[in-house]
Amino acid sequence: MTIENEEDLKKLRTIGRIVFETLMLMKKSMEPGMTTLELDEVGRQNLDKYGARSAPKVTYDFPGYTCISINEEAAHGIPGKRVIQAGDVVNIDVSAELDGYFGDTGGTFPVPPVAPRIEYLCQSTRKALNQAMNAARAGAKINQIGLAIDKVARKSGFVTIKDLGSHGIGHQLHDEPHFIPNFYDKRDTRRLAEGQVITIEPFLSTGIEQTQTLDDGWTLVTGPENFSAQYEFTMVITKGKPMIMTAL
Ligand code: CO
Ligand code: CO
Repeated sequence: MTIENEEDLKKLRTIGRIVFETLMLMKKSMEPGMTTLELDEVGRQNLDKYGARSAPKVTYDFPGYTCISINEEAAHGIPGKRVIQAGDVVNIDVSAELDGYFGDTGGTFPVPPVAPRIEYLCQSTRKALNQAMNAARAGAKINQIGLAIDKVARKSGFVTIKDLGSHGIGHQLHDEPHFIPNFYDKRDTRRLAEGQVITIEPFLSTGIEQTQTLDDGWTLVTGPENFSAQYEFTMVITKGKPMIMTAL
């Protein structure tokens, strides 16, 4: 969607704050020995507190309130019996709707102790998000986002996941512009407009560039011994730096 008035901005900020607060609460609550279902329950309770509805649930009938993906799982992991262990790389993605407005945020949180290379993967992915936000200006080509992400990945010795990407959001979880890739597509002539609401969510990976869907029909995995990281904000495009909606 594109912001049309103060009301739009206010409501996007409200749901943005709720999903971000939920993500931070889940991050804080996460500990070895806990199942991903228990962690999802922390998220559900916080969304419930505000009357916010899980976006993957209302949009796609996803079997969980949040997506929790561990190690070889890149995205859309289903909360369940899997026990979180020391050394795991846990991605939590929280998206929800309130009053007809959606917010979407995510982050990758290693459970100590993890190898320095994993810390570097996470640090590089946060840098990619930051660099992509610097490139996301009203009037700029959308492909500048993928270019910025890919540059950071290459420089850090990582790759990007090619079949996952950022997206428009607003009155729907996934809105125009659909699929903003993690790589530079020179044929993509779309441009960003002032007031446009999008997510930026780079996915960096230690080696594998494509995901496969597990038999559960949801979980997107890279492969054995492969790790990936993602950080995601919902934001409004301006002539300057984007305004982040998913913040406290
Ligand atoms: Co998300
Ligand atoms: Co998203």
